Amino acid sequence: MAKTIVDIMAMKEKGTKITMLTAYDATMARLLDDCGVDMLLVGDSLGMVVLGYDSTVPVTMEDMLHHAAAVRRGAPEAFVVGDMPYGSYQTGIRDAVKNALRFIKEAGCDCVKLEGGRKVVPIVAELVQSGVSVVGHLGLTPQTASQLGGYKVQGKDLAAAKTMLEDALVLQDAGAFCLVLECVPEELAKIITAKLHIPTIGIGAGAACDGQVLVLNDMLGMFTNFLPRFVKRYQELAPLMRQGVEEYIAEVRSGAFPAKKQSFQSNTDYSPLI
Ligand code: KIV
Repeated sequence: MAKTIVDIMAMKEKGTKITMLTAYDATMARLLDDCGVDMLLVGDSLGMVVLGYDSTVPVTMEDMLHHAAAVRRGAPEAFVVGDMPYGSYQTGIRDAVKNALRFIKEAGCDCVKLEGGRKVVPIVAELVQSGVSVVGHLGLTPQTASQLGGYKVQGKDLAAAKTMLEDALVLQDAGAFCLVLECVPEELAKIITAKLHIPTIGIGAGAACDGQVLVLNDMLGMFTNFLPRFVKRYQELAPLMRQGVEEYIAEVRSGAFPAKKQSFQSNTDYSPLI
């Protein structure tokens, strides 16, 4: 059965950890859905792991909608989160609502995610008012990483930790039903998780969060440009993929592929064509 916001929120109450992975295409989304992942995030990490940019900043609404729709087609059961790209909600509440509704109407997403604390509260409130469910995102917010001094752990001193906790509470009050905490000390993530009635999903935020998310290409060892400390590699697919591709190249060159088995045969006498 397709998952709903009620199912996701109930998991916190029951103490069942929520599993979230990123997905960008229908083939992988189907596989993850079959495995039983609760939530699929069509993250703007798309820009870095699929589109080849060196940050998430250049990703557009059209990029996101294209991939989010593919993920939705592949995954009928999982709860699909569309990540609002940089520039799609910073230009005003009307733009934010218009773009969020596109994720729901055109791509079939179940909700949207956007980065930021108190500054985005009016946007979150308006989206929820418009019927769009919202996941917040605090801690390291990659779209504004340059303002944070780079890709660094956030909330390390008491003042920053207090600000993050307050931001979490105001996002919850504005109607966010779930919160991603990225690169946050585990002690702080634990406090935020305990103070909220909505679930937290951690990435580099320790084990006390109500759920975990990883970038699929990182955890399967397909994206090998760099490895953030919080990633655990559950597979090393890149060498296997390389081996398969190199074997294919060698067999095409040698004539070993395609063999009879991968070719079609006919009883027709084609000799008049020679
Ligand atoms: O874009 C993304 O994949 C994300 C996760 C890192 C949470 O926002």
